[in-house]
Amino acid sequence: MSVAPLSEPLGGVAASLHAAGAAAAYWHPVIDSAALRDKPQAVQLMDHAVVLWRDAQGQAHAWADRCPHRGARLSLGRVCEGQLECAYHGWRFAETGRCVHVPALPEFVPPAGHSAQIFAAQEAYGLVWVRLVNGAHSLPLFSAESDAGLRKVNCGPYDVATSAPRIVENFLDMAHFAFVHAGWLGERGRSAVADYTVQATATGLLATNCWAWQPQSHVHSTQGAMVEYRYEVTAPYAAVLTKVPQPDTTATAAWRESIALFICPLTAQTSRVWFRLAVADFDSPDTTLQAFQHTIFTQDQPVLESQSPSCLPLDPRAEAHTAADKASAAYRRFLQGAAISFGTC
Ligand code: FES
Ligand SMILES: [Fe+2]
Repeated sequence: MSVAPLSEPLGGVAASLHAAGAAAAYWHPVIDSAALRDKPQAVQLMDHAVVLWRDAQGQAHAWADRCPHRGARLSLGRVCEGQLECAYHGWRFAETGRCVHVPALPEFVPPAGHSAQIFAAQEAYGLVWVRLVNGAHSLPLFSAESDAGLRKVNCGPYDVATSAPRIVENFLDMAHFAFVHAGWLGERGRSAVADYTVQATATGLLATNCWAWQPQSHVHSTQGAMVEYRYEVTAPYAAVLTKVPQPDTTATAAWRESIALFICPLTAQTSRVWFRLAVADFDSPDTTLQAFQHTIFTQDQPVLESQSPSCLPLDPRAEAHTAADKASAAYRRFLQGAAISFGTC
């Protein structure tokens, strides 16, 4: 775990961390845990090239993907005896980031300055999470995670050509159901959005008493139903929805589900998206549950990628709003208050 040096003159990594703004101090998902094995992996987070690797204990590490010697990508290297070895001149780095061996000078003891830049990393929800700058923020909460009556399945990642905030806003939006998801999460004749409640929270917002008519609200729906939604923004680029259909409209008794949206902001205008499903279904194959979510999200994706600008405008005058958009308005106010500049404009 490390502190990214923001006190040095702004250049190189420090300048790009500065450009990442307040969002750099939050945790962001970067890769499926299962995809990080014995080889280093290159990922991108907020315009930063990051190398991920596992030490001898299996612990995940995230470093700037740049060797401090001559700038080669550390992700081209390999893991050797629990250390990361650069592909260029074979310098070896311990899990602290410190260079511990220079093969061209075997007796040389590298000083502290011969260190890779390290970031904080941890694993949760089947994903590896990275924070570029240390701060007080916790991982986004997914309260369904600890509910033993719900099975968890990840869906994604999806690479989407828009900003993370546009994707969160779409996730909170009920007025598009009747159009983008006609026949599934809405239908044209029943497009009205009844008034709902929105309140600001420490991590974003909570929207409750949200109701939608849905012809096929989930994979086991047997008929159209009124469905109650609850939305929570749990971090600038993360949200959770919980939806409960009217009784007797589903093939499984006491169906309930929560879906977490986790987004990696690759750049300000490109994103990698995961959904974590928590569902009262321990029988269906993963692929059945993932296929439903895939159908829904691939309906959203072309519209999301069409939105202009790709960044989310925080100036209320930049786009037109109605009362049905009050969750999105609250989300924009939250981003503004939290000084989230990455992915907004
Ligand atoms: S560039 Fe990495 S060891 Fe020389
Ligand atoms: Fe949608």
